[in-house]
Parts: sequence; structure tokens; C-alpha cells
Amino acid sequence: MNATEARTRHAQLAAEIRAHDRAYYVEAAPRISDFEYDRLYQELLDLEKRFPELATPESPSQRVGGQPLEAFRRVTHRLPMLSLEKIRASDQPTKEEEPDSEKRKRRQDENTLEELRAFDATLRKQLGRSAIEYVMEPKVDGVSIGAHYRRGKLELGVTRGDGRAGDDITANLRAIKAIPLELNLKDPPELLEVRGEAYIARADFEKFNARLEAAGEAPFPNARNATAGALKLLDPRLVAQRPLRAVFYAVGACEGIAFATHAETLESLKKFGLPTQPEWWLCRGIDEVLECYSRRVVCGYHEEKDLRSRVPYDIDGIVLKANSIGDWERLPSKARAPGYAIVHKPIPWITPAETRLRAITVQVGRTGVLTPVAELEPVFVQGSTIARATLHNEEEIRRKDIRIGDTVVIRKAGMVIPEVMEVVQSRRPPGAKEFDFLAHIGNRCPACGGPLAREKVSAGDKQEVAWRCQNVGQCPAQKTRRIEYFAQRKALDIESLGGIVAEKLVDSGLVSEPLDLFALELAPLAALNLGSPEEPRVFGEKNAAKAIEALRRARSLPLARWLFAIGIPNVGEQIAYELARLHRDFQDLADSGLLREIQAGDKASPALLEELRKRLEANPGLRAEAEAARQRIGGEIARLRAELEDALSRIEQGAEAGAEDRAALKKRRDSLKGRIKTLESNLPTAGLSQEIGAVVARSVLEYFGSAQGRTLLKRLKELG
Ligand code: IVH
Repeated sequence: MNATEARTRHAQLAAEIRAHDRAYYVEAAPRISDFEYDRLYQELLDLEKRFPELATPESPSQRVGGQPLEAFRRVTHRLPMLSLEKIRASDQPTKEEEPDSEKRKRRQDENTLEELRAFDATLRKQLGRSAIEYVMEPKVDGVSIGAHYRRGKLELGVTRGDGRAGDDITANLRAIKAIPLELNLKDPPELLEVRGEAYIARADFEKFNARLEAAGEAPFPNARNATAGALKLLDPRLVAQRPLRAVFYAVGACEGIAFATHAETLESLKKFGLPTQPEWWLCRGIDEVLECYSRRVVCGYHEEKDLRSRVPYDIDGIVLKANSIGDWERLPSKARAPGYAIVHKPIPWITPAETRLRAITVQVGRTGVLTPVAELEPVFVQGSTIARATLHNEEEIRRKDIRIGDTVVIRKAGMVIPEVMEVVQSRRPPGAKEFDFLAHIGNRCPACGGPLAREKVSAGDKQEVAWRCQNVGQCPAQKTRRIEYFAQRKALDIESLGGIVAEKLVDSGLVSEPLDLFALELAPLAALNLGSPEEPRVFGEKNAAKAIEALRRARSLPLARWLFAIGIPNVGEQIAYELARLHRDFQDLADSGLLREIQAGDKASPALLEELRKRLEANPGLRAEAEAARQRIGGEIARLRAELEDALSRIEQGAEAGAEDRAALKKRRDSLKGRIKTLESNLPTAGLSQEIGAVVARSVLEYFGSAQGRTLLKRLKELG
């Protein structure tokens, strides 16, 4: 066999092996026996031994190669890897029904559907459209990954990490046979990043765990855990031995390729030979989405009808995405989650549990807001024991008529904090009294005895009315919460000073405000009594030294962390990050012309653009992102313009067309014009997160203008 013949045969073998890998790992429909597969594979290896130049990186023989890594390289995502906003399935109290009746489930279903309708209404309003097309698809409970294909070849694999940067796990993704090393595409684009989830199929997981147990090793608690563990292995040879698979459901960075709709994306990925989900639904409007539920396409109360038994992996919700990708840019995003999608959990998938409400305690938050908390007889729900659940606020308790001593239904929906859904009326103890919030706390702050007032507070996106302790400066609970907030991991990461330590620091008078922490000295901190006067238990020398070291490190943490730590209203983690990217330090923020212009609300004022330009100039990373955003928006505008052009010429030619068609065309023209205008108005400030709006700007400026803010600036300067 000469070199040319070898090349031809090698290409043939490689193509066959790829097709069989696909049939086996992606379609779960093997076409040949293991024996036959091994024979093909051996022939390929033999050829490569004789003609080593055939062993290119894309050869099926090269999935696992090279030495184990020392550590993973960190890579910044070209586009952040976002998360999904969850719908909270709210519920109404029931009086006469039993907690598990079909009727009750149906009604809860109805409520979830209401929330989906509300999501649709928001989108329609934001887009100025009467109907929106959606794709509904399972939310895969695996581990997020991204795979970059450059000119069709797998070039880079990454984990999600913190959403901005992840680990380079290219070698590990190459070891997963469900992930093609090369796309099935004649004329591949310069770059296509696909995003999805690595997983271990339920059936494989059971076998894998059984093997571990047989070998005397600890089994994994669930498939997700086992997947995460496998992806973190530094030796790809070990990864290849784990039963990992993957599905892809989105694209990230692209060059030389674009998709108009999400449905088109999913179809294309499948065509390119990538594993995609076997079931998803294109719905032409919210009614079709809801119909999917009433026809029980996704889940019913019978297992055979449940999607969860139709797919090989775990799913933990249903994602609803607007289909038109052009719309995505136009929908304002939330902190870390895009506006075009939402995830929810169908009611039959949420396991409720019943337990007794022992007491209601009232917590005082960082800003003095009082939150009632249900103290429960501990129960085990979906993998963990729950002894407390939020009751949100006074109004919620009244609405659900929750009384101490009641048997309550609690629910843990995904990662959401457990909540009390409803009371089992039939099991109410005789004599249980209606709960009176104010009387319960004697009309005063339960922490400091200070006066209360009813105030509007923002809870997530919603405005709520809540009782609030007015003793802002002195209330020990508020002080403690502020210190805990300041010291939490996402803030300055001085974790040894959280919880009971924060409380005792405040009680003992050593610390009153977060910045006091920096004046702490070793001896008094070591002597801090965490127990009671009768049974003292000191913090200790070692812990104190650790805390002081953590405080020293905190001084050099980036501005974003500090900004988050001080807890300015409306400035969460994400916004702090955005603000910090645009500013040098606290003083720069306090004097920020940019924020002043944003507060004024004119998105295209010359002063604002000039400010933005200066700040982008000073930060190359940010400038690149802004440039990319501008290009994306520019591309979308060009596409819409072409559509508009088409509509205009058809209106012109179509003098003979029916009046109805003309009306439809004109409507389309106007809608296109509107969309182009919105995008054009976004263009100048591309790169400036939409989240930093007038509300945030005002909040930050007000904070630094206040006595509290000014003191903070002064003290920060003193601390250097
Ligand atoms: S869309 C902007 N679709 O869930 C949103 N995500 O909680 C991009 N996930 O980080 C993701 N199944 O890792 C999308 N069908 C699906 C998904 C899915 C699972 C993951 C994803 C995301 C997380 C959000």
C-alpha cells in the first residue's frame, strides 16, 4: 500500500468510526457490534503506525493523548456564560382540598402557567409585538461546557467557571466520544463556539456507581456530581474511562456564521454532527406553549408521559426561549441572566413535603427589613433536611393564613430557598390563633427594641411593603448583618468573621461598622467570647491570626469586591463588577461624570459618549467587548435593513396586491423601522451594561453624597 492509498483508506476508516461513534453515543442506536468496531479501530491504528503523518489531531485515535496536566489553564469567555432566570411558582392557599389531590395539582399547574403568561406579556411589551415565537426545551442537569470549533476543528473546551472565565478542559472534552473532533460541515466557519452540558446518562451512572462500590470506593451522590468530578480530572486517560456524554443547546462566540432563530441553531448543530436534545418544541405563541402543558406533552402525572423518562439524562426544568435571536439583543437582561429566556419547573416535578410549624421567628436584615421565618419540625426533602423556610412577609402569612402549630406543605423548587406553600387545613390544631405579626414582636424590632415603620422595599424585581427597623445606626442585628455581608465569600472573603463571630464582635463593642474590622488587634480578637458568660468559649489565637491575615489580604482585593461588600442599595455582585470596570477607585466613582450622565437618562448625549469613550480607552478588555457588542448590533441592524428594503420594494411594486397584503406589509415595515431605531439607539452605548441604568446611577451617587458615604470615603483613605 502506498501513501496515497493509505490516506484514502485512513479517511474512509476515520469517517466510519466517526459515524459509529455518533450512532452509539449521540443517537443511542449502534449499528455494528463492539467486535466489528474494534476491528475498524485496530486497522486505523495499524495504518497510523506505518504512516504516522495520518495521525492528525482529528483522527479518532487521537482523542486521548499527551501527559496529564499539572493544572488547568484559566480562559476568559469571549461572551460570558450566563445563567437562567427562574420562575417562582406561586400558589394560593386552599381551604377545603387535601394537599395531594389532583385538583390541587391542576390548580398549581394553572398558577405556573399564569407566570409563563406574565413572562410572555413582558416580552411582548418590550418588543412591541402581539405574539412571540418560543422554543421550549429541557434544562439539562449536567455540567456546563463550551466547545470552540475553529474552521470545523475542536480547538478549545472550557468549563463555565464563574461565567466570565473557566478552565481549559480541551483534553478532557476530546476524550468524550459524543463530542466530535471535527464538525460535519463542508465549508466550516472561522469559529463556532457551542455551549451545552456534559452529563452521565442515568443508566450509565448506576452501573458506574455499582462498579465503584464493588471496588470498595465511595459512590457519587448523583450523576451531576460524578460528571463534575470527571471533568476536573487532570489525566484525560481517566476521563475516557468515565461514561461521559454531552448535549449542546446554544452557541457562544461565532465568526463567519450566524443564526436567525434558536430553532435554526438547534437544527444546525444537529446537522453539524453535534449531539443535541432529542425533544424540543417550537411554539408559535404563548398559547401553543400552554397547550403543550394542557396536552401534557412535557409531563403528566403518569410516568410514561413524563419527559424525564424519555431522555437519558437528568433534567431539572423546562427552558422557554424567545425564538428570534434578533430579539435577544433588544430584551434587557437581568443580573447574569438574559431577558429572552426563563426556566421553570412543572409542578409534578416538585416534591412537596409536610411538616409541623413549631414557631415563627422574625429576622432583621442588613437594611432593617423584618422577615418572618418558619421554624419547622425537620423534614427530609429532595436530598436535604429542612428546618426553616421563609415566610416572606406579613402579607404572605395573612394570605395563606399560616398559624403556629399548623401542618404545612413546604416545597424546595430547585435551588430556591424552601418556602411554605400552604396549610393543611384539616390538620389544624384546635385553638390555633390567627397570626398577628406586630403583636408577635410586641410592636418593636425584635433585635434592638427600636421603632418600626411600614416601608416599600424592593425584593428582587418586585416592590413589597415590609416592616423595617428604624434604628439604622444602632440596631445590633443590622450591624451584624452588615458585617456578615461585608465578610462573605463573594465580598471580601473573611469568612471566619461571619455568623456568631460577627454577632459577638458587635455585642462586645469591638466592632460597630464593617471598616472597624481593620482596626482589630490580635489579643482582643483572640479573647472574644463566643459562648456565654457562664460557659465561655474564646475565638482563640489561631483563628484570630487567620482572620487578621484575611483582613490584610482583603485590602488588595479588586474594587468590584469592595464595592459589592459595602452594600450600596441596588448594587449587587454583577453591577459592582460592571461599575468597577468603568472606574479606577472609590473616589472616581463618587465623582463619576459617567454616572451623572447616565442618571440624566439621555443615552446618546455627547457628554455621556465622551465619558464612555475615555473610560473604554483606559481599559483594553472592556474596549474589545464593546467593539464586539457594537459589531453584533451592527450586524443585526444590517440584517433588519435588508428586510426593510425588501418590504419597501414590495410595497412599491405591489400596487396591484390586495389591500390586506399591503396592510400587512406596512405593519411589517413599521415594526422593522421600530426595531432598527431601538438598536441604533443602543449602538452608541454598546459595551455599557444595560443594567447600569438611571436607578443604579442615582443610588450610587446618592450613597457617596450621603454622610454615610462621605465617612466611608474618608475612612478608606485613612486605611490607605
Ligand atoms: S440556555 C443564557 N438551555 O442551565 C442562557 N441553558 O441555570 C444560556 N442549562 O448556565 C443557557 N439546560 O448551563 C440553556 N436547555 C438549556 C439548558 C441550559 C441546562 C444550564 C446552562 C445555564 C444554566 C442556567
